[in-house]
Parts: sequence; C-alpha cells; structure tokens
Amino acid sequence: MVGAIIVTILLPILSVAILFDLFGIIENPYFGFLLYLVMVPILVVGIILVYAGTFFSRNNEEIGVFAVEYIKEQFSRPGRYSRIRNLIYLIIGITFMICIIVGFATYGGFHYTGSINFCAQFCHTIMEPQMKAYQNSPHSKISCVECHLGKDAGWAERSRFSGLKQLVAVATDSYSRPILSPIDELRPGRKTCEQCHLPEMFHSDRLVIKDKFLPDEKNTHVQTVLLMKVGSGEFKMRSAHGIHWHVSQKEELYYRHSDRERKKITSVRLVEKGKQDILYKAIDADLQPHEDDVSRKMDCVDCHNRPTHIFFSPNEALDQKIAADVIPRYLPFIKRQALELITQDYPSVEEANANISRKLKAWYQQNYPDLLEGNATLLAKAIEGTVEAYKENVFPKMNITWGTYQNFIGHNDDSGCFRCHGKLQEEKSGKVISSDCNICHVILAEEEADPDVMRTLSGRSITSAPQNR
Ligand code: HEC
Ligand code: HEC
Ligand code: HEC
Ligand code: HEC
Ligand code: HEC
Repeated sequence: MVGAIIVTILLPILSVAILFDLFGIIENPYFGFLLYLVMVPILVVGIILVYAGTFFSRNNEEIGVFAVEYIKEQFSRPGRYSRIRNLIYLIIGITFMICIIVGFATYGGFHYTGSINFCAQFCHTIMEPQMKAYQNSPHSKISCVECHLGKDAGWAERSRFSGLKQLVAVATDSYSRPILSPIDELRPGRKTCEQCHLPEMFHSDRLVIKDKFLPDEKNTHVQTVLLMKVGSGEFKMRSAHGIHWHVSQKEELYYRHSDRERKKITSVRLVEKGKQDILYKAIDADLQPHEDDVSRKMDCVDCHNRPTHIFFSPNEALDQKIAADVIPRYLPFIKRQALELITQDYPSVEEANANISRKLKAWYQQNYPDLLEGNATLLAKAIEGTVEAYKENVFPKMNITWGTYQNFIGHNDDSGCFRCHGKLQEEKSGKVISSDCNICHVILAEEEADPDVMRTLSGRSITSAPQNR
C-alpha cells in the first residue's frame, strides 16, 4: 500500500518534471538534484515495495494477484482463465510503462550528474574557485566531464565512484580546503586532451605576447615577446622536436616525485624502444631518489596542469584588468596601489572588498584630490576592477590564496619546466638536462616599452615615431 501511494503520487509529477528537464525548460541545479537524486530513488523504492508487497501477501486475495499459489489456483478453475490473462496483460503493460519512465529518469540522471549545473553550481562554494577560473579560460565552452569523466567505461566508472565519495564528503563537511589536485583520479591526460588536440600536429612555433604595466606613476605599458618553440610529437616527415618532443610517439618519459604536488622531481627515465633506458637523477642533495617516491608517466597535464583552472599571480591578474581597460590605465599609480592592496590577507571577500575600496579612496583623496574632483567614476571603476582581480583568484572560504595552485607552464620560482631542466643530470655521463634559454623560446623582447619586434610584426617601420598606445 505504501508503495502504491508513493508511485501514484510521484509517477505523474516525475513524468512531467523529466520532460521539463529534458527539454531544458527548467535549468535550476537544485531542480535536477531533487528530481534525479531524491525523487527517482524514492519512486524506485515505491515500485519495489509494490511488487514485493503483492508477491508476498498470500492471504489477501484483493492484492495477491501475483502470488504463485493464487495464480495456480485461478488457472485450474474453468472460466477464470481469460480474466487472468487480461490481468497479466495489464500488469505487463504497466510494468513496461514504468520501465520507460525509469529509463528516461536514468538517462536524465546520468546526463544531469555530468552537467556543469551539477558539477559546479550545486556545490557552489566548493567548486566556485575552479568554476571561476574555468570561465576565464580557453576551455570555458567545454563541460567539466569532457576532462574529468572519460567516455571509456573504466575511467567513467572510476570517476563517478570517486564522485560518490565526494558527495559524502560534502554532506559530512569533511572535504579538504583547498580541494587537492585530483591527479590520481584523472583519466590520463593524453586520452583526455587528444579527444580534441593532436600533438603530432603542433608543428609550428608560437608567438606569445605578454602585456604588462609597471608600478610607476604612468603605469607604463611594456611587453614581453617570446617565440615559443612548441614543435611537435612527430609530424609526417618531421621527427619529434621542440617542446612537444615530450609527447613523442617513440619515446616515453617516466618521472618520480616525492611530494603530492609533483614539484619535487627526484629522477626521470627516458624509455625508447630498441635503446637502453636513460636515467637522470637530481643534482640537489635534498632531492635524492627515495623508494616512497611516486612514479608517473609524463603526459599533457604534467606541463598543462592548469589548462582551464588558471589562477593568476597578483601581477598578471592586474595586468589583464588594465589591458582590458577594466581598471583605467590613466589613473596614476593604480598598478602599484592595487597590487599592494590585493596581496594583503583578508578573512573574507567582503572584508577584502571593503578594505580595498576604503584604502584606495583614502589614498587618492590624499595624493590626487584634484584628479578625482571632476572624475569620480574613474576611481569607482578602478576599485571595481581591483576587487574583481582579487575575487577571481583568492577564495578565503576554500583557503585559496595567491600561488595556491601553481602553473607548470613556465618557470616561476624554479617550478614548471625547471623542476627537471637544470635540476637533473644523466646518471652515466653527468650531462645536465639543458636550461639553455633558447631551447624552449627565443626572447624577442623583455618588458620593453614599444619593442622593435612589435613594430615589425605590426607592419610599422622600426624607425617611425613611437605610437601613442
Ligand atoms: C580542459 C580540461 C578541463 C575542464 C574542461 C575542467 N577541468 Fe577541472 N581539472 C583539469 C585538470 C587537468 C586538473 C588537474 C590539475 C593538476 O593536476 O594539477 C583539474 C583539477 C580540478 C579540480 C581540483 C583542484 C585543482 O584546481 O587542481 C577541481 C575541483 C576541478 N578540476 C573542477 C572542475 C569543474 C567544476 C569543471 C567545470 C566547471 C572543470 N573542472 C572543468 C582539467 C579540466
Ligand atoms: C572537447 C575538446 C577539448 C578538450 C577535451 C581539450 N581541449 Fe584544449 N582546447 C580546445 C579548444 C576548442 C581550444 C581553442 C580555444 C580558443 O582558442 O578559443 C583549446 C585550446 C587549448 C590550448 C591553447 C590555449 C591558449 O592559450 O590559446 C591549450 C594549451 C590546450 N587547449 C590544452 C589542453 C589540454 C592540456 C587538455 C587536456 C587536459 C585539453 N586542452 C583538452 C578543445 C579541447
Ligand atoms: C613539456 C611540457 C609540455 C607537454 C608534456 C605538453 N605541452 Fe603543450 N605546450 C607546452 C608549452 C610550453 C606550450 C606553449 C604555450 C605557451 O607558451 O603559451 C604548449 C602549447 C600547447 C598548445 C597550444 C599550441 C598552439 O600553437 O597554439 C596546445 C593545444 C597544447 N600545448 C596541447 C598539448 C597536449 C594535448 C599535450 C599532450 C599530448 C601537450 N600539450 C603536452 C608544453 C607542453
Ligand atoms: C619530468 C622532467 C621534465 C620536465 C618537467 C620538463 N622537461 Fe623538457 N626535457 C626533459 C628531458 C629528460 C629532456 C631530454 C634532455 C636531453 O635530451 O638531454 C628534455 C628536453 C626538452 C627539450 C629539448 C627537446 C629537443 O629538441 O631535444 C625542450 C625544448 C624541452 N625539454 C622543453 C620543456 C619545457 C618547455 C618544459 C616545461 C613546460 C619542460 N621541458 C619540462 C625533462 C623534462
Ligand atoms: C625548458 C624550457 C625553458 C628554458 C630552458 C627557459 N625557459 Fe623561459 N619560459 C619557458 C616557458 C614554457 C615559459 C612560459 C611561456 C608562457 O607563459 O606562455 C617561459 C617564460 C619566460 C619568460 C616570460 C615570463 C613572463 O611571464 O613574463 C622569460 C622572461 C623567460 N622565460 C626567460 C628565460 C631565460 C632568461 C631563460 C634562460 C636562463 C629561460 N627562460 C629558459 C620555458 C623555458
């Protein structure tokens, strides 16, 4: 009876709700949760109760249509046979309908638990940092599951299972703050990234232009220009070369690290078919190999560990806001003042917001009172932009501050490429993995105002007067 009540109430509600969800009429993350993770399981329990109840209640003729004894008896009575047959048809029909609805519900639930709504918005506070960084990245149109759940069954199951553990951690408030990098739970990078990127194809160099602003009165605009030798992991007639040599088809690189973040690399093994392995060991006495070290085959995410959750340094965050004119460049010393304020510790975003706003106002009122008089919006805009730069990268609730998640592309603070280059040497010959500046990039300009190379690239002649940019 309980089962029947549940099914009678939920079935019509669910049928309509699932249609609403499948056609995208309601897009609230809590709607999906209520629907697939609360109502559907209750419905299934209801259905099981109905079947179990009818089967086991032998003494009650009214409900006991399923009881084996009852059916046997009915079959043996002449005249009853056709009524029973109709009943059986009816039951098969209803079962079929329920199966279809449960099928739709399962499909919808599968879809929902793989949606950005579920991944990021349902666990809003916890996923907010990764979601924000993701929204500002080149991969912002790709759903979380393209990278985090594989399409191949083994990894998909593994990821969903670890997802279940995470739901429990959320429910019991026992998750880590910040969320640690899920490198063990992540499908190998090559499989994930090569759904869309073909390493063999990156066969050209890439020009990287970085706009920066100095902490002086004029917030002077300078540029760093690098020609990155991206190369390829083998392309048609060309063998693997340049930076993407690391993902060549012929060689495999294994490394061992002694910390969870993969920052302390103790040894590297280069394996090539038909040749003897080459072993590299750390030069630094503190980084000697240890048997507890974790071994890993190098893939895309060992360099591109932040392909989408890109958290910036305070300098980069402000430079981007100034370059995009979110923070007005013509406000004297704004880079210096903003940098000083966003790098301080605040217990919460609200506190940061209030402090940054108050202190910037006070500083400009004291030092540039005339400038603000006729142009109050200038400062208001600068404050808003500065707070934005802070809010996109620092999340006090999750213990995430500047530098919590480091990017391995590059070599800030000796990390990234310099975890190996210049740090390890061939065991046999003693040859150090090169840190010659020109094997990875050619530096065409470094923090220069209006560099010659940019004039050449823009088609302006090098000798013409500097443009007022
Ligand atoms: C382009 C692929 C890609 C997409 C899309 C993506 N992620 Fe990630 N994510 C990664 C990689 C790679 C790592 C592991 C970084 C590492 O190993 O250091 C990661 C790590 C994480 C972490 C662990 C904390 C951290 O920053 O290391 C969380 C949480 C996370 N992702 C959530 C999400 C959410 C939520 C979405 C969707 C809004 C999403 N991811 C979309 C590739 C992706
Ligand atoms: C579902 C497809 C897809 C997957 C999976 C994917 N990417 Fe991408 N990636 C793209 C697209 C599309 C772009 C180009 C975005 C643009 O420039 O607008 C891109 C751009 C990039 C760029 C260039 C970013 C820049 O600054 O211009 C890098 C690097 C990159 N992806 C690395 C990765 C790595 C590493 C992974 C695996 C963890 C990965 N991608 C997974 C589709 C994908
Ligand atoms: C040894 C480190 C390393 C490994 C391993 C690596 N990359 Fe890269 N990749 C780089 C660097 C460095 C760049 C240049 C990025 C820049 O300066 O903006 C780059 C550039 C790229 C770009 C942009 C290319 C362009 O011309 O715009 C894509 C896409 C990319 N990598 C994808 C991948 C994929 C997919 C894999 C794995 C199969 C991979 N990378 C493995 C270091 C690496
Ligand atoms: C896990 C260790 C490790 C890391 C991390 C690493 N490399 Fe390497 N790299 C090597 C080894 C080993 C070699 C081969 C050295 C040799 O041939 O003597 C190499 C060689 C290279 C070469 C020369 C390829 C050629 O044409 O001969 C380039 C370029 C390069 N790496 C770029 C990078 C860049 C860029 C990064 C960071 C984004 C990086 N590497 C990170 C281990 C590493
Ligand atoms: C193993 C490869 C490798 C070597 C060796 C190397 N770099 Fe780099 N360098 C990189 C990568 C990768 C980046 C990041 C490019 C990006 O951010 O897109 C970078 C970035 C830079 C930048 C720009 C930093 C910024 O954000 O403004 C400078 C400057 C630089 N390198 C200087 C050097 C100098 C000087 C040397 C020689 C001592 C050197 N590099 C050696 C790989 C290398």
